[in-house]
Amino acid sequence: MTERASQAISFAIHPSRDPVPAARRAELLVEPGFGQVFTDHMVTAAWTAEHGWHDAQLRPYGPFSLDPACQVFHYGQEIFEGIKAYRQAGGPIVTFRPAANAARFVGSARRMAMPELPEDAFVRAIELLVAQDRDWVPAEPGHSLYIRPFMIATYVGLGVRRPSPSYLFAVIASPAGSYFHGGPHPVSVWLADGYIRAAPGGTGAAKTGGNYAGGFVGQMQAIEHGCDQVVWLDSARRQWVEELGGMNLFFVYGSGSSARVMTPALTGSLLEGVTRDSLLTLAADLGIPADEGAISVTDWREGCAAGEITEVFACGTAAVITPVGAVKSTGGDWTIGDGAPGPVTRRLREHLLGIQFGQFPDPHGWVHKIC
Ligand code: COI
Repeated sequence: MTERASQAISFAIHPSRDPVPAARRAELLVEPGFGQVFTDHMVTAAWTAEHGWHDAQLRPYGPFSLDPACQVFHYGQEIFEGIKAYRQAGGPIVTFRPAANAARFVGSARRMAMPELPEDAFVRAIELLVAQDRDWVPAEPGHSLYIRPFMIATYVGLGVRRPSPSYLFAVIASPAGSYFHGGPHPVSVWLADGYIRAAPGGTGAAKTGGNYAGGFVGQMQAIEHGCDQVVWLDSARRQWVEELGGMNLFFVYGSGSSARVMTPALTGSLLEGVTRDSLLTLAADLGIPADEGAISVTDWREGCAAGEITEVFACGTAAVITPVGAVKSTGGDWTIGDGAPGPVTRRLREHLLGIQFGQFPDPHGWVHKIC
């Protein structure tokens, strides 16, 4: 069977003959954690300089057979995305702003000298996989299906003269509970010391595996200091706050009707989060002034001490909105407010999840129905 939906790319449909039995799937959905359990199917498509995108298919989830000399294993030519599907109460299964992820995937591909996947094919691949594996979308409140599209360089050879002339695009999906163990409790963060994540002109704004590989050493420092996450600072002065290991940051100034939020501006070295962008709009919708700007470590510490910064939270597709309760660094430690989730953090989280799960109106048309 062949499905013609994307303008340029046709997906062949090959359902699994051996899906996980319903009873076992139900067990797996009870406590799925994050990124541990995978659904019955995946989508793949190949690209070559000669044929462009071809051989697109939905097929049973399973291992790839790849030559050990494939370029991705040696030079890390790889990009990925993260997006979720939600089971709305008694009704449809939806996803959230898939066109924004499709556009970012194109941007990452350009930066990593990889072929651009047409945005409609990116969205169609997600629709096909989620519709096929709809029974894997959790019904538990707050749980979702995390979808991971990615692309790798498959050229076999060790030369580094030019980018790979062949690629594999794939989409896999994984039922997800809370990203942080134990649910969305306030996390503690460690200010990266001695390492940077990204520099001007580098790959920081692209969603490419190397940014995360290079970040693990900072994440290990964070864990050694008893923290959940690392905060990356700017490369030149190690002074300006950029982002967390896999999430953007928001700062709340003031409280009550005078509260406002600010997130570090996109300098080219931090990731343009879809959740970040949505929250800038959503905060404004709720009457909370929202801005992009610059914040130094000193501003952060002194702002908390003076009571001007009342809340800080991290945001991303995987983590949704997660309060930050405490900061540790070689220059000193401090807490944010009383260390507990603040009212602005809770309100934004409730509204974002409310739109995604269909409990609140969706004035910007962000929700994308799949089935
Ligand atoms: C996401 O929030 O989707 C991410 O990509 C963060 C992380 C799991 C790498």
